[in-house]
Amino acid sequence: MRLAVNIDHFATLRQARKATEPEPVLVALLAEQAGAHGIVCHIRADRRHIKERDLRLLRDAVKTKLNVEMAATNEMKRIALEIRPDVVSLVPERPEELTTEGGLKVAANRKGLGPHVKALGKAGIRTSIFIDTNLEEIKAAREIGVDLIEINTGQYADLREGPAREKALEAVRRAAEFGHKIGLEVHGGHGLDYRNVGPIVAIPEIAELSIGFSIVARAAVVGIERAVLDMLALLGT
Ligand code: PXP
Repeated sequence: MRLAVNIDHFATLRQARKATEPEPVLVALLAEQAGAHGIVCHIRADRRHIKERDLRLLRDAVKTKLNVEMAATNEMKRIALEIRPDVVSLVPERPEELTTEGGLKVAANRKGLGPHVKALGKAGIRTSIFIDTNLEEIKAAREIGVDLIEINTGQYADLREGPAREKALEAVRRAAEFGHKIGLEVHGGHGLDYRNVGPIVAIPEIAELSIGFSIVARAAVVGIERAVLDMLALLGT
């Protein structure tokens, strides 16, 4: 299973002092050197961590795959068409949220999302949608022409081991099977860490995981290379 490392919170650390370090692009290169299969970052409307400058530097330097998360707004579409990441991940965004809170509602927003996905595709950008485990939503994502989906593992990750977590895991498994069956590349992410990632790794239809906070937190103590290597070992790659 591939590992895409989300580096947002290195930028959060920089912005805590409105300083010039750490440089997210430096961390991205070290993560790649340690074996990460891709780099992910989220440009938010409030630019609270990643900024356009970071995107330009990352676009230039990242050799594996650059995946930029963003809201499906005109401002963000303009940025995507200028930067041309390999993948754009469309996510919902609420200004006050600490982190993305759930999947994008696709079925209810087909009319807006369909042309958005098409415009990105025309520019050679693959589109992903961050999506909850609801099969109707996944079907709608396929219908509007996305290339891949990222299943929200947040609900699973927030639960302690027990029946409720098993149920959430089963929902992720069913969503992955369904997405794969209808021809989508299936990724997963949100809230995954060194302790809870195992059962997600065991789902064969999931090709890639997007993991940020837990890797950044470990990197603060042991360094980014060690943190990436530790996660790669759990992913069996
Ligand atoms: N996937 C999406 C769509 C996200 O918004 C985030 C958080 O930025 C992640 C994955 C990574 O989540 P975490 O930081 O909890 O690993």
